[in-house]
Amino acid sequence: MTDWQKSDWRKKPRVQMPDYTDADALSAVEARLASYPPLVFAGEARRLKSHLGAVSRGEAFLLQGGDCAESFAEFSADTIRDTFKVMLQMAMVLTYGAKVPVVKVGRMAGQMAKPRSAPTETVDGVELPSYRGDIINGFDFTEASRIPSPERMEQAYLQAAATLNLLRAFSTGGYADIHQVHAWTLGFTGAPEAEKYRALAERISDTLDFMGAAGLDASTLHELQSVEFYTSHEALLLEYEEALCRLDSTSGKWLAGSGHMIWIGDRTRQPDGAHVEFCKGVQNPIGLKCGPSMTSGHLKSLMASLNPENEAGRLTLIARFGAGSVGEHLPRLVKAVQEEGANVVWTCDAMHGNTIKSTTGYKTRPFDSVLREVKEFFGVHNAEGTVPGGVHFEMTGKDVTECTGGVRAVTDEDLSSRYHTACDPRLNASQSLELAFLVSEELSARRTTISDAKVG
Ligand code: PEP
Ligand code: CO
Repeated sequence: MTDWQKSDWRKKPRVQMPDYTDADALSAVEARLASYPPLVFAGEARRLKSHLGAVSRGEAFLLQGGDCAESFAEFSADTIRDTFKVMLQMAMVLTYGAKVPVVKVGRMAGQMAKPRSAPTETVDGVELPSYRGDIINGFDFTEASRIPSPERMEQAYLQAAATLNLLRAFSTGGYADIHQVHAWTLGFTGAPEAEKYRALAERISDTLDFMGAAGLDASTLHELQSVEFYTSHEALLLEYEEALCRLDSTSGKWLAGSGHMIWIGDRTRQPDGAHVEFCKGVQNPIGLKCGPSMTSGHLKSLMASLNPENEAGRLTLIARFGAGSVGEHLPRLVKAVQEEGANVVWTCDAMHGNTIKSTTGYKTRPFDSVLREVKEFFGVHNAEGTVPGGVHFEMTGKDVTECTGGVRAVTDEDLSSRYHTACDPRLNASQSLELAFLVSEELSARRTTISDAKVG
């Protein structure tokens, strides 16, 4: 797409974006960001794309997870480390079930702009503009804080750069050693309430012992002490995305320099809108949220504009229908993909269709609904003979109380104790790892069914 320009989105209808009042301040920030180094390199985005191509063929599995919204207040080395750590644990447990490599993508280092269902919110009779993520305005419920401020983009860039720097250090600096990751998991399964996961953890221990005895350990195999970890976020704030967009001299193609993978949200996927226009022109892997209102026609037109060359790994369809509704919506979209012969990754966001209000007034998500949606997603793909490529969670490595359920049961009454999210409720570390065990069981069962079918 040679005639595409990174500013073309400006000619299209835009939704969910702020109206900045100070145009000079906005241009000054955009100019500074445009002069800064990009956060990621094109070769990395291409490498992720090729891994996602493997996911689309069932040769790898995608784990995408992290905060609903990264905030300036929660920004710290510990927060980054804890989320990274639990994602590695989950990936290891999933690898064991899937018997294929797990592609790890954080909702990290840039996930700071939020679409909202209403433009304003009212508290105790006071109505103010909604909070739209720290890159746009402030969480505090005051008039001043809710005014969109372009300078926040620069703060977000710095936070994303520092986050990515730490993730890169953790990925290759010895922190990701497979034995250490497994030792953390044994800490979880050692607790009495996690007993039902112990047998699987012990099978992983046996495998590692066997590999060690055979001379395959971290001192001889680089793969056992480092990981590839990628970043992603919703490409919502297009002034920021445009300012970080760069022409890659190797391929002559544009790159969204803000993260490895970017996605289009369920509220901003209008085929002729600004967000689709921007994502069309960059070479990164693109995610597309598919909620209940997505028709086969929309999907076909979006696939045609976002992936005209039908490149494997370019497009990840992120299904988010809610437990109990997957069977109603997913089959028509799977059919649309088949009719087009499109190469896509199918992944399941088991969070955004499962938000409810608790009896104690908190926005929450029951662990069982999250699990049920994943199972329904697998069920549809098993029935259609297509590939359930991955899972997408809002999660944190911290011990928060935002989603209910799990073996260390969080109740409606517990929610007030550590409810820290800047936006949607996240799975805590224990709930995240527990889900990985349960999804891993689904993956093993699917492998058994497929190999039985081949033999039979
Ligand atoms: C999100 O992923 O945080 C989000 C807002 O999702 P969706 O666009 O699917 O509602
Ligand atoms: Co969310």
